[in-house]
Amino acid sequence: MSAYQKLVTQGQDLFEQFLQEINQQNAQELAVKYLGKKGLFNQLAAQIKILTKEEKKDFGRELNQLKNKLESKLADYQKQDFASQVHQDLTMPGIQTKVGHLHPVSQAIEEISRIFEKIGFVRMSYPEVDWDYYVFAALNMPTNHPARDEWETFFVDQKAHPSLGKMVLTTHTSNGQVREMERVKGQLPIRMMNISRCYRRQSDNTHTQMFHQFEGLVIDKDINIQHLKGTIDYFAKEFFGPKTKSRIRPFHFKFTEPSFEVDFSCHICRGTGYIKDEHHHKINCRFCKSGWHEVGGAGMVHPNVLKAGGFDSNKYRGFAFGWGVERSYTLKQDLNIDDIRLFYSGNQEFLEQF
Ligand code: PHE
Repeated sequence: MSAYQKLVTQGQDLFEQFLQEINQQNAQELAVKYLGKKGLFNQLAAQIKILTKEEKKDFGRELNQLKNKLESKLADYQKQDFASQVHQDLTMPGIQTKVGHLHPVSQAIEEISRIFEKIGFVRMSYPEVDWDYYVFAALNMPTNHPARDEWETFFVDQKAHPSLGKMVLTTHTSNGQVREMERVKGQLPIRMMNISRCYRRQSDNTHTQMFHQFEGLVIDKDINIQHLKGTIDYFAKEFFGPKTKSRIRPFHFKFTEPSFEVDFSCHICRGTGYIKDEHHHKINCRFCKSGWHEVGGAGMVHPNVLKAGGFDSNKYRGFAFGWGVERSYTLKQDLNIDDIRLFYSGNQEFLEQF
């Protein structure tokens, strides 16, 4: 191949190369790369010296033709490239990278802890697998007492402790009561918050076999029901919003006397017990019973429990309450979650909303 032919082929190859790059690179950069002062075409043209006078003329013409073709292609490309740039809205927010977050139940636990910390409660942590003694017996429910049947207990297949009895999955956070009294060894006041997992043989749209409770325990001199009601009201307004009402209804627990069930007003039906269907007919609120949600129990610590914890029940009094975390969380305004099993379903679409 003659030197002339070689250079012409090189010129054509450059053009081919350009055609391959044109839609992938920025037009401005391509112009510099191929047509710039030190661009590829000029570099090729510099080799013209080795050609004869006649060949120089032909090669120059050849090269110019290629450059013209390239220039017009580049101009077209530049137009469309520019158009695509103009349509980019630079004020648009960037694409958000996904960030993880705490599970809604963990968020609720954090919030509940902070609410009670503000009024002097200290967060403690007690076993989630515990002896019968702390879960039942010390709470005024001796072995074989029928009241135990209310707690659908999971027993751990494990040799019973000679004095503390069988090992169970905690059915409530109340096992922390006597444990906390033992911990302080008579030093008062107690203002304890015990938040942990609980287990019961149950499953429907308001119950899961594993759930969380938060337990409050206050023991001091001169503690009365008003302190309990005040604490419940304070929590209701902090957690659910200032319009929330709370009420206590007489109930029975072996470890409190008197005992209460604690209700908060329903946010979905706004405490009325009914909502309107799509035809504007009144129908019962499917989320609550008569405008109120029962979240758990409370009461004044039973003298026998104070005794079990080493306190003189003639000198000291206390109140306690134990409520479901998931249950309380679903009652938050505007959440409208009517099936607490969703929390543990692993359903990403559901969980990502929190
Ligand atoms: N432990 C009780 C329950 O799980 C609730 C409760 C706690 C009641 C503290 C009274 C005092 O139902």
